[in-house]
Amino acid sequence: MNKIMPWLPLLLVVSFLLLPCSHAQEPGYDQPWRPQYHFTPPQNFMNDPNGTVFYKGEYHLFYQYNPEGNVWGHMSWGHAVSTDLVRWKNLPVALHEVPGQYMVYSGSAVVDWNNSSGLCKNPDPQDRSCLVAIYTAAYKDRQKQHIAFSNDRGRTWTNYSGNPVADLDAPDFRDPNVFWYTPQHKWIMVAVLADARTLVVLDSPDLKHWTKRSTFGPAGDTAGQWECPDLIELAVEGTAEKKWVLIINRNPGAPAGGTGVRYLIGKFDGANFASEVPDAPALWADWGKDFYATNTWNDLPPGDGERVWMGWFSNWQYANTEPTVLWRGGQSVPRTLKLRRYADGLRLVQRPVRELQSLRHDKLRTENSSVAQANQKLRDTATRGEVYELEAELQPGEAHEIGFRLRKSKAAETLVSFDAVHREVYVDRTHSGEISFSKDFPGRFSVKVEQSASIKLQVFVDRSSVEVFVNDGERVLSNRIYPPPGSDGIEVYAEGSGARVVSLTIWKLNSAWK
Ligand code: FRU
Repeated sequence: MNKIMPWLPLLLVVSFLLLPCSHAQEPGYDQPWRPQYHFTPPQNFMNDPNGTVFYKGEYHLFYQYNPEGNVWGHMSWGHAVSTDLVRWKNLPVALHEVPGQYMVYSGSAVVDWNNSSGLCKNPDPQDRSCLVAIYTAAYKDRQKQHIAFSNDRGRTWTNYSGNPVADLDAPDFRDPNVFWYTPQHKWIMVAVLADARTLVVLDSPDLKHWTKRSTFGPAGDTAGQWECPDLIELAVEGTAEKKWVLIINRNPGAPAGGTGVRYLIGKFDGANFASEVPDAPALWADWGKDFYATNTWNDLPPGDGERVWMGWFSNWQYANTEPTVLWRGGQSVPRTLKLRRYADGLRLVQRPVRELQSLRHDKLRTENSSVAQANQKLRDTATRGEVYELEAELQPGEAHEIGFRLRKSKAAETLVSFDAVHREVYVDRTHSGEISFSKDFPGRFSVKVEQSASIKLQVFVDRSSVEVFVNDGERVLSNRIYPPPGSDGIEVYAEGSGARVVSLTIWKLNSAWK
């Protein structure tokens, strides 16, 4: 056999390396630009996170997936599970397109704890539950909501024979997000009429029969589409107060250009959402370019914080042309959500989930140093890297700017900085490496911050990304970067005098894929 096909063993090895697989060790994840602790699909194109739900010890992540190529198309639900939101195990595609009929667009998943749907056929008489996924079936010129159910912890799925379960006879009715509304013992679905920038609220006793209850929108938006809505109740930090937050993914129109996530804070009575500040300027969840189509986990275990979400780590402006080959698209780190009160009102704050700390090793710390001393320490300890977490408190003093040059080499650098004159934190990826695949990719993306003498930055750096959490999650900037090989320098800089590095901690992070 070897005489006939001498290259076969090599082919087998290469195919094995390229195959999606469910081993603890994921081959194919140790590549340039392949994120080491962000989720990416084993191969091919991915966009929105879908169906995020916790069930029987596992966090499920489904996602918009093209099983056949590395650009958008043939949309299906890819699937992975994790026991800690950080280390993922890839599973086979959960929901497939039906060629010639419909693609499987975004949606959500719930635990039907009491078998309200009658679809749960659990052999355990003590346990009536099963998983139900609610997704958009995108037909050629109509979008309708379907459900599918799984009686084996999400491993296999059956489409409900009575689909569709919600149909408004519209071409753009999509992205159903479903949750159990305890006060009225019923299911709520929020979905959008995307082009009209309108939220539709429906309810159901059993996930199979849905009644439209209200619409909301366009809430100041005069262009673009609404996609992937979510409605969640969140506590106001440090109080017993709770508020409803309506999350709207907007395409385009985000502060950094292209797609982004806005939110409104208000009340929900089981049928209507009302914004607390009717003319509120748009509030945004992220000021980077790459955070979109968010999905919050349903049924989180107690102790996980109230809500955790994840966003697609890309932007529709260039999602199909990002310069990776084997796979394309990724997810942000998972983040816990809360509301915090500021002088000008309530704001969403996001913190990376604490499970990420389990990846930390090799810590560097310096306190109360000048910029030169901090850089000396980085050199003395040969601290460089492509995969790490950095926490710093910086005091500009008289300097007009202080910050970091990250993923630095002779050919590239990404700036994460505080502009003290304009009181804004920015990420500049103009010289970050490969940027030529889209005119919309390079740029400097900034956000205003609250007034204070120093600035706190928590920065997650991965092989092709920089995610910045400012002042304990008050502002976030998420951005992909594609640096050339060897761009692993870390440098502090200031422009002007008197700047201080109040503290700087850097942890190398282990790969979550090993
Ligand atoms: C958002 C989105 C959704 C749609 C899905 C299709 O990124 O456009 O509205 O369901 O992607 O892949």
